[in-house]
Parts: sequence; structure tokens; C-alpha cells
Amino acid sequence: MEILSQDTKNILGLKLVTDPRWVDLASISIEAILTDHAWCEQKAATSCITLISKYNQKEKLVNELAPIVTEEWGHFRMILTEMHKRNLQLGPQRKDVYVNKLLEFQKKGGSPDERFLDHLLTMALIEARSCERFKRLSEGLEDEYLRKFYRKFMESEAGHYTLFINLADTYLPKEQVRKRWKEWIAYETELMQSMQVRGDRIH
Ligand SMILES: [Fe+2]
Ligand SMILES: [Fe+2]
Repeated sequence: MEILSQDTKNILGLKLVTDPRWVDLASISIEAILTDHAWCEQKAATSCITLISKYNQKEKLVNELAPIVTEEWGHFRMILTEMHKRNLQLGPQRKDVYVNKLLEFQKKGGSPDERFLDHLLTMALIEARSCERFKRLSEGLEDEYLRKFYRKFMESEAGHYTLFINLADTYLPKEQVRKRWKEWIAYETELMQSMQVRGDRIH
């Protein structure tokens, strides 16, 4: 892992970039990476539905996340189409160590506001890391079509990262959001450093 340049850091808030060897590993297991990616999109759609049902009284959140559900599910379908084209099989969903470790950091005993903030920041972080990984794929894969394919995902997930941070800023004091975000970034940096580099998963 290397420290991110100031530019990318400002865009995504992340501190570490993915080990470049990850793309080489990913390119030899396209079926596995597409399968894992498909399930990430499914989880993104499901998580937005969960947020909408849990925070139904927050009008802006409901209005902004409703189309994201469609978009994430559209991403799932795009991957399915790509897999069919390549005669690849959608494999089973795996245990998501990265996401489970992030969930452990959520303040279980916190106030409703603190839990709401952690929920939004978890989403923002997953979007940011996915975006960073898609960027790697869009630059490093040998298959030109797949490089363009991942460029589209990268752009879309960057927008989602911003959306979750903006929602947090809408409902909670900005200083509280910044302070907690810093704690999340520090936690994620350690988590990424502790995780094995594997080419068969997005994170
Ligand atoms: Fe997506
Ligand atoms: Fe997303």
C-alpha cells in the first residue's frame, strides 16, 4: 500500500491506495472478480433500501437514495450481461470480511444520531474504496473493453461517496461529521493494511 497523492485524497478521503499487484491478480480471475463485484452491487442496492426503510421520515435521504437503488441494481445487471457475454458463471456470494470489519467499528451503544452517522459513513467508505479499486481496474486491466467498463463504475461510485457525505452534512453538524470521518479513515487504513491482497474480490 502506498500513501495516496493529495489530489486523490481530496476526492475520496482515503489515505491508502491499493497495492498495484492487486490488478494483476484480479486480471487472472475475471470470473471471480465479476462475481464478487456483482454481489457488491447487490449489497449496495439492499443497503440503500434498508436506509430508506429505517429513516423514512428523512425526506431528502429517501428522495436521494431511491434512484440509487435503481442505479446499483442496474450495475448488478450490467455485470450479469457482461458475464453472459463471456460465458462466465455467477458464483455464490462470499463472506465479506472487509464490510464485516467495518460494521464492527459502528458505535453500537451510541445515540440514534451517532448510529445514523456511522451508517452513512460506512456507506461512504465502501463507495470510496470501491471507486478506488475500480480506478485501478480501469487503468491496469489488459482487456480494453473491461478498462472502459470499470471507468464507468468508478465515476458512478465517486458520485455515491459524495452523496453519502453530503447526506451526513445535511442532517448532522459538519464538525461532528468531519471528526467521525477521520476516525473511520484511520480505522479503514489499519484494516486495509491488515488484509491479504487477493485478486478474487473487490475488497
Ligand atoms: Fe454501484
Ligand atoms: Fe455505489
